[in-house]
Amino acid sequence: MTKSYITSPIYYVNDIPHIGHAYTTIVCDMLKKYRQIRGQEVFLLTGTDEHGQKIEQSAKAHNQSPQAYADSISAHFRTLWEEFGIDFDYFIRTTDSAHCQSAQAAFKKMFQKGDIYKGMYEGWYCISCESHFTKHQVVEQKCPDCGKITTTIKEESYFFALSKYQDALLQWYEQCPDVIAPRHKRNEVIRFVESGLVDLSITRTGFSWGVPLPEGIENADNEGSEGAPKHILYVWLDALMSYLSAIGYEGALRMDLWQDTTHIVGKDILRFHAVYWPAFLMSLELPLPRKIYAHGWWTRDGVKMSKSIGNVVNPKEVAQSYGIEAFRYFLLREVPFGQDGDFSQRALIERINSDLSNDIGNLLNRLIGMAQKYFDCKLSSTQIEQFYPQEVAKIAPILERFESAMSDMQPHTALEELWGLLRLGNGAISTYEPWKMMKQAQSEQTLALLMLVGNVLLKTALCLYPIMPKTAIAIAAALGSSIDTQSFSRYVSQNALLQFATLTPTAPLFPRIESPLMPEPSLDSKDSKESSAPKAHTSAPTSPQTSTPKAQNTQSSSESNSTPELVELVGIEDFKKLDLRVGVVLECERVPKSEKLLRFLIDLGESKPRQILSGIAKYYEPSELVGRQVCVVANLKPAKLMGLVSEGMILSAHDDEGLSLLSVPKKAGSKIS
Ligand code: ME8
Ligand code: MG
Repeated sequence: MTKSYITSPIYYVNDIPHIGHAYTTIVCDMLKKYRQIRGQEVFLLTGTDEHGQKIEQSAKAHNQSPQAYADSISAHFRTLWEEFGIDFDYFIRTTDSAHCQSAQAAFKKMFQKGDIYKGMYEGWYCISCESHFTKHQVVEQKCPDCGKITTTIKEESYFFALSKYQDALLQWYEQCPDVIAPRHKRNEVIRFVESGLVDLSITRTGFSWGVPLPEGIENADNEGSEGAPKHILYVWLDALMSYLSAIGYEGALRMDLWQDTTHIVGKDILRFHAVYWPAFLMSLELPLPRKIYAHGWWTRDGVKMSKSIGNVVNPKEVAQSYGIEAFRYFLLREVPFGQDGDFSQRALIERINSDLSNDIGNLLNRLIGMAQKYFDCKLSSTQIEQFYPQEVAKIAPILERFESAMSDMQPHTALEELWGLLRLGNGAISTYEPWKMMKQAQSEQTLALLMLVGNVLLKTALCLYPIMPKTAIAIAAALGSSIDTQSFSRYVSQNALLQFATLTPTAPLFPRIESPLMPEPSLDSKDSKESSAPKAHTSAPTSPQTSTPKAQNTQSSSESNSTPELVELVGIEDFKKLDLRVGVVLECERVPKSEKLLRFLIDLGESKPRQILSGIAKYYEPSELVGRQVCVVANLKPAKLMGLVSEGMILSAHDDEGLSLLSVPKKAGSKIS
């Protein structure tokens, strides 16, 4: 049997879990379940990262010892994953003594290999990212990754000879082009390494909350002095080592698992996983990971989440309000893996009502209702394909596309495909109207139709298992089937048709939701020091504020010099109603008999180009615009101008010198926000 190993990041215990942590962990769980249902053995690791300066400081701020503080927050993570039904095989804590020993053993091995030497670190450090930076990476003291203020440190340190591995890393990226996904992230990593690697400081001395150096390695110069801090391992070396220690680095490393390792991380920590970690592994003479997947960043209502704004989405609250299954579905469906995503209750409710309540829930109810009414819940037919050949023929390609998207780690595409199957089921009922067939005594055709729908639902449930496990099991149970590898192989991989089913009536799976179930954050409360804007205007404090001279308010405001008061502010919700996209001009010509209008054909990344009219004929020659990227309002109501329909608007800026079209070097269809 194929065996594989999946890891989530080991989360810092400086704060309770938020939606981003939940997302990564749910993606890991999805991948595990997907591999399992296809018959593979999978080991899933998650856990907590408990050492380092950041944790030491947070503990202090909470008046607790680092260990007590780590104990309590680590328990939050573990309990949440248990409540969420995350099927982890091991939960590692970097304060576990077995882990500490493994980390020390690794240090020793790299030292003996000659890859570690003592020196002096002088440079910038971001405590929030636990990351070192050089002078030219830091602008105005700010961390280039998270934007927080960095500190400078100068201390004795052991260094890892990272530069020695630069060529080997570049060779690895080239030889295994699919290891780092998505592709554009891989390119960023390559550019980073190509720009030159400097040796990495891998011990700290200024504080003491960490794994001590292994015995036998010379410690700090001030070793003699009472209570003086000695070298401890750099927290990233410590944390990355947990991937190995969890499967027994100090004892017998489970090489069967290590051979096929997938790390799933957010884009914020890709560098540590795709550069430092493989270099450490090369030094330890261990196989490199098979896959490193980096996903994008979640925002809330279009705004970056932060504790100081008070808009962090608490995953526990979402799951309690809307159910973990709907939450999982939303997270996996809403955003293409690798891209940034936005959480809003509106979007979540929309998904629940349309995709879940309508498309799946109703289909199951309709099937059960008709089976009950016409056939006492017992369905059987050997003539599904005979009566509905066209519908049956469409199933296999959908399942193939589903599988291919899942293997490419694109659950959102996989789900889009799967919804094609549900449309097929819903469509068949509307097209063939079983109630009419029954009136015409066509019970064979009706049975075959209901079994067609039963098959649609069973196949959907089997595919849906990694995404919504409980829902999948409930649907299968209602159909008298089960979710297991045999069923998956039979009804999905081989696409066999189920011919008999005894249905069990169930409660509706996803009742419709009429209004938000969680209170919205009051964004003004915590930020009062930074912003004195009136309450009604603070729904999105970090959204860009635009002003026109006309909109200047006459009201006085204590801070009106820096931020003029505005009469007409729009909330981010209003702004988000606009669908702004990059378009590429395919054709452009003057509209006959019009001095102003140009007629464009614009590629917006859709199946068909759009015709858009724009009153800019005075400013441009049509031929110079062909091939240009423009910015388009894509969801403007169509309008007729000079007898031609215009489906959108092209954005431009003008001043007294004339007019220029806005242009961004992105491909057709890219979203502008
Ligand atoms: O970095 N959107 O831990 P961490 C998406 N201890 N994902 C997010 C997110 C957001 N807004 N916020 C957090 C650490 N994440 C280290 C890892 S691994 C050896 C050590 C997720 O608690 C995402 O997966 O800061 C990100 O990479 C991770 O949480 C960072 O968690
Ligand atoms: Mg972080």
